Amino acid sequence: MTVKSKKRTLRSRIIGTGSGLPKKVLTNLDLEQIVDTSDKWILTRTGIRERRIASDGETATELGLKAARTALETSGVSQNEVDMLIVATTTPDMTFPSTACLVQAKLKLDNCPSYDIMAACSGFVYGLSIADQFIQSGQCKTVLLIGTEIYSRITDWTDRNTCVLFGDGAASAVIKGFRSDRGILSTHLFSNGSYADLLFANGCYGSKENTDGSNGFSNAYIQMKGNQTFKVAVQRMSEASRTALRHNKIKAKDIGLVIPHQANLRIIDAVSKKLGLSAEQVFTNLDRTGNTSAASIPLALDEAIRAGRIRKNDLVLFVAFGGGFTWGSALVRW
Ligand code: ACO
Repeated sequence: MTVKSKKRTLRSRIIGTGSGLPKKVLTNLDLEQIVDTSDKWILTRTGIRERRIASDGETATELGLKAARTALETSGVSQNEVDMLIVATTTPDMTFPSTACLVQAKLKLDNCPSYDIMAACSGFVYGLSIADQFIQSGQCKTVLLIGTEIYSRITDWTDRNTCVLFGDGAASAVIKGFRSDRGILSTHLFSNGSYADLLFANGCYGSKENTDGSNGFSNAYIQMKGNQTFKVAVQRMSEASRTALRHNKIKAKDIGLVIPHQANLRIIDAVSKKLGLSAEQVFTNLDRTGNTSAASIPLALDEAIRAGRIRKNDLVLFVAFGGGFTWGSALVRW
């Protein structure tokens, strides 16, 4: 008698994560010494208590490298198994080579394609989707994804509207293909460039020092119309979440954990309310990180895993929103 084997779908699974946070902590009380603000204002308007700030000379590559080394270690994947490296960043060390190429050299990843993507705070979800497409197509088995940002260097430290919001950091995920029911179930990406004037950083940027010792950037400061950005963020993050639910024919109550972009607790609460999510279903760590842009979702993911908040077979929803505007969602069966 022959037993027909049922071939399962090829799915991309996150098999290891890691973080790379700078040591220096900047509290709201510290910010009171820099601009006309208060701990109370920042906490009630954003939910942020403190954030990490890179030290002089610390680069997006260094933070990303630290995160990637831990992600490789926790996943048990060796350097020579990595067949693509994607770095999501808006604050690269240099115009080129890409941050990915700089990380690749330090990790000694032999000849795998490496490149940066820029989708601001949606970078990790964009990267997850790209990794998934390469794995689904059979071109890659294992992808290393990093989100790394040093927003302290594109922050105008005289502008209280923006300087209280952001922090520095990196986090990484190793994504590998398996024939399994577990893994990425869907990704949905969106953007609308007509919102560009609501949130942008103009000018040239490089987080590394120039050869003459001067800073590697000029006038690349974040400018944001916070109020309008807030409204679009709530609307688009809710839509992207609903798209994932509809596509996978599930309800909000079926989700084990939502890991949203960590920009503002009030945005997260408003999205949760629109979707009918309970507080236990939503993970936040922005009180200690601030908004770390492309690093925000993977930093929260890494922390959620270490805190035991995600169990095997849980449905985990990532939902992102950032400059562009860009936004998107990814649903994973863990
Ligand atoms: N301390 C004290 N007062 C402040 C501060 C501060 N740090 N910042 C602003 N204010 C004042 C303003 O000047 C204003 O005063 P006024 O009424 O006298 O003019 C008052 O507080 C209210 O300002 P609003 O902008 O209306 O405050 P709001 O409640 O909207 O909160 C915030 C501002 C936190 C920026 C919010 O709008 C927000 O989170 N926006 C979205 C951020 C986001 O999601 N960004 C996208 C991702 S980031 C990326 O992609 C790079």
